[in-house]
Amino acid sequence: MNKTKIIITGGLGFIGSHTVVELIQSGFEPIIIDDLSNSELFILERIERITGCKPKFYSYDIGDYNKLHQVFTDNNDISACIHFAAKKSVGESMEIPLTYYRSNLISLMNLLEVMNEFKVRKLVFSSSATVYGQPEKLPVTETSPIQKALSSYGSTKQMAEDIIEKVSATGSLQALSLRYFNPVGAHSSSLIGELPKGIPSNLMPFITQTAFGIRKELTVFGNDYNTADGTCIRDYIHVVDLAKAHVNACEYLLADKGDLSHDVFNIGTGLGNSVLEIINTFEAVNKVKVPYVIGGRRNGDVESIYAGCDKANQILKWKAKYSLEDMVKDAWNWEKSYRK
Ligand code: UD1
Repeated sequence: MNKTKIIITGGLGFIGSHTVVELIQSGFEPIIIDDLSNSELFILERIERITGCKPKFYSYDIGDYNKLHQVFTDNNDISACIHFAAKKSVGESMEIPLTYYRSNLISLMNLLEVMNEFKVRKLVFSSSATVYGQPEKLPVTETSPIQKALSSYGSTKQMAEDIIEKVSATGSLQALSLRYFNPVGAHSSSLIGELPKGIPSNLMPFITQTAFGIRKELTVFGNDYNTADGTCIRDYIHVVDLAKAHVNACEYLLADKGDLSHDVFNIGTGLGNSVLEIINTFEAVNKVKVPYVIGGRRNGDVESIYAGCDKANQILKWKAKYSLEDMVKDAWNWEKSYRK
């Protein structure tokens, strides 16, 4: 029997590669497009080692309309697309905003145009909790107001959701935007995981690199917030749980469920943890020290955010299963195995 083909843009990245694994293990046939600008080709072999299946791969930048078109011409029976390919560094987006707007929005528009030409009507979009800014009420739900984005990166996610909303309203597309909270951890095989280029800006890869001795110490960005221990609170989610949410989203779309043409879902655990709780749990579970100092607040950081996930539980039949202990253990195992 032919498998259901799904195009995955950015399918060799951190979340993309874990999603490809879960899709294969759920019986789908992912086709990866990735320009390798923030990923490595060896991840493709690793996906094969985990699943026993090597997905079709195109090393293309989907900002190039003709190349994207070629992929759809080569594969004429695509059922859905998952769109991960995007730039994602908050800090960098403030330095080179136009690169972020061009890259994140043109690639999306190319994809929507080509999907429409080939009558591919189902899309899962990689959005972010950043669209909420600092919510007034916690946990934050999908009906909470969207606030003006602080970063150009956040702004591209808001604009992308809006573009998808308007295109869906024409009746040519059914789309789900998944608003991720803070993805961490790695596959339990330690064969795939996060591969930040240069100095990591996110907390977990900075912790694993510091524990490994690549970085001298971690700076905790502020301990004077209005939280129990003074450090910021986030909803950390295991990347495998996040990947599985994409499988459920595809199954939902392909079952032709739902009457809305565009819908949004929070994808988190519903739990908030402080920066110090993450460091302490990492040290206790992995029996390794993470030297750290307390520094000033980082520009643009919100104090506290965690997800209300009832909507994804009820409609997508999805719930996060992994604990914080699993996340810090898998993140550390991946760092050690990658460095070997
Ligand atoms: C940010 C973005 C989010 C994006 C994600 C992935 C915002 C508000 N958030 O999440 O949209 O999807 O990056 O790139 O735009 N921290 C330290 N020391 C460090 C690094 C981080 O104390 O060296 C703290 C931060 O202050 C924060 C927490 O750790 O409280 C998590 O930070 P990070 O991993 O960078 O994620 P977010 O900023 O939450």
